[in-house]
Amino acid sequence: MASLASCADDVRSTLPRPVPVKMRTEGLSKHYGTALALHPIDLEVHSGELLTLLGPSGSGKTTLLQIICGLVEPTAGKLFIDAIDRTHALAHQRDIGVVFQNYALFPHLNVFENIAFPLQMRRVDGPSIRAKVMHALEMVGLETFSGRFPRELSGGQQQRVALARCLVYQPSLLLMDESLSALDRKLRESMQIEIKRIHRETGSTIIFVTHDQEEALALSDRVCLMNTGRIEQIGTPEDIYERPRTTFVADFIGISNKLRGRITPESRLATPDGAIPLPAGCAVRAGVTEATIIVRPEHVRIATEGGYLGGHVVERIYGGSETRLLVRLASGAVMTVRQPAGSPSREVGAIVSLHWLESDSRLLDS
Ligand SMILES: Nc1ncnc2c1ncn2[C@@H]1O[C@H](COP(=O)(O)OP(=O)(O)OP(=O)(O)O)[C@@H](O)[C@H]1O
Ligand SMILES: [Mg+2]
Repeated sequence: MASLASCADDVRSTLPRPVPVKMRTEGLSKHYGTALALHPIDLEVHSGELLTLLGPSGSGKTTLLQIICGLVEPTAGKLFIDAIDRTHALAHQRDIGVVFQNYALFPHLNVFENIAFPLQMRRVDGPSIRAKVMHALEMVGLETFSGRFPRELSGGQQQRVALARCLVYQPSLLLMDESLSALDRKLRESMQIEIKRIHRETGSTIIFVTHDQEEALALSDRVCLMNTGRIEQIGTPEDIYERPRTTFVADFIGISNKLRGRITPESRLATPDGAIPLPAGCAVRAGVTEATIIVRPEHVRIATEGGYLGGHVVERIYGGSETRLLVRLASGAVMTVRQPAGSPSREVGAIVSLHWLESDSRLLDS
C-alpha cells in the first residue's frame, strides 16, 4: 500500500544541501542459490552522514553491509566508495572499519594490544601507536582499562574496545552491525550518545544496522528502512515517522492507528465507525475509492463528545511519562491513544470521543 503522491506535506527525503557522496550502490543485488537476499539496491550515503539500515530479521541488512565491506561478493551491480568502483576490491583495500555484533576481541591480548593491532598491521611506528591507542581509549572513556583482558570486561566495555579498535585507524567509512543489541537498555542508550558524539567529533561516515526502531530514530541523520531485500523508504527520522509512505513503514516504526474506508464525494473517509476528514492538503488521485488513514497515538485527542469517532476505554496502560489508552470503537476496531503525564485520567469503561488535527493524519491508498 502506497501513499497518495499528491499530499502537500510529502517532502523529498534528501538532505538540505548537496553534500559529497561517500558510498553509492548501483543495482547491487545478492542471490543465495535461487533465493534473492537483496533485490537490486540503489543507495547513496553522504560524507559525514550517519545512516541506519533498519528492518526486520532477514530483510537483507547484514547482506548489504557485508557486500559493502567486501566479505560477500554481490551477484550483480556496482559499489562506489569516494566515486571509485570498489565492487571487487579486497576488503582491506576499502578503508572501511567494521564493528560486528560479536565484537571478536582477541582474548589473549589486553585492551591496549587489541586496539593497537590494526595499527601494527599497518606498520605504524611505536610512539604513534601509543598516542593513537590512548586517544582512542579516551574517546570511548576507557583510559584506565588498557591493561585488562577482554574476559575482565563487561559486555558494554568490550563493545567500547571493539569500537576503539575500529576508530583507531580512522577509517573514513564505519560499518556497525547490531553493535549495541547485546547491551542492556541503559548502557545501550549511553553508547548511542557516545556514538553520536564520536560521529560528530570525527566527521566519519557511519552505516549502522539495527532492527530497533527507537535506536534508528535516535541515532540517524537518515534511516533506510528495508523489507524483504528491498528499500521500503529512506529519509530523515522525521520523514519516516511522520510521513510513512506505506503501511509497512507505518507499522514498523512506532504504533499507528489505521482506519480503512471509502472516499466520499465530500472528501471524507467513510469508515465502519463514522466519516472522518481526509488529511489536510491531500488531493485524491483519480480512480482511488478506498484508502487508509493513519494517525499516531500521540496525535489522537480525547473529548467527551463532538469528536470524529466514539468508543469506550478497554485498557489503560500506565508508563510513567505517558499513559496509553486502548479505545474500542463500535465496529470492534481498537485505537491507541497516548496521553502525556498530567492529562485528565480516563478509566476503563469510560465513554470517549476521539479527534485529531487533519494535518496530523496521513492518507495511504489501498
Ligand atoms: N550465507 C547465506 N546463505 C543463504 N542464505 C543467506 C545467507 N546469508 C543470508 N541469507 C539469507 O538472506 C536473507 C537476508 O539475510 P540478512 O542476514 O542480510 O538479514 P538481516 O536483515 O541482517 O537479518 P537479522 O536482523 O536477522 O540479522 C535471509 O533470508 C537469509 O536467510
Ligand atoms: Mg543481520
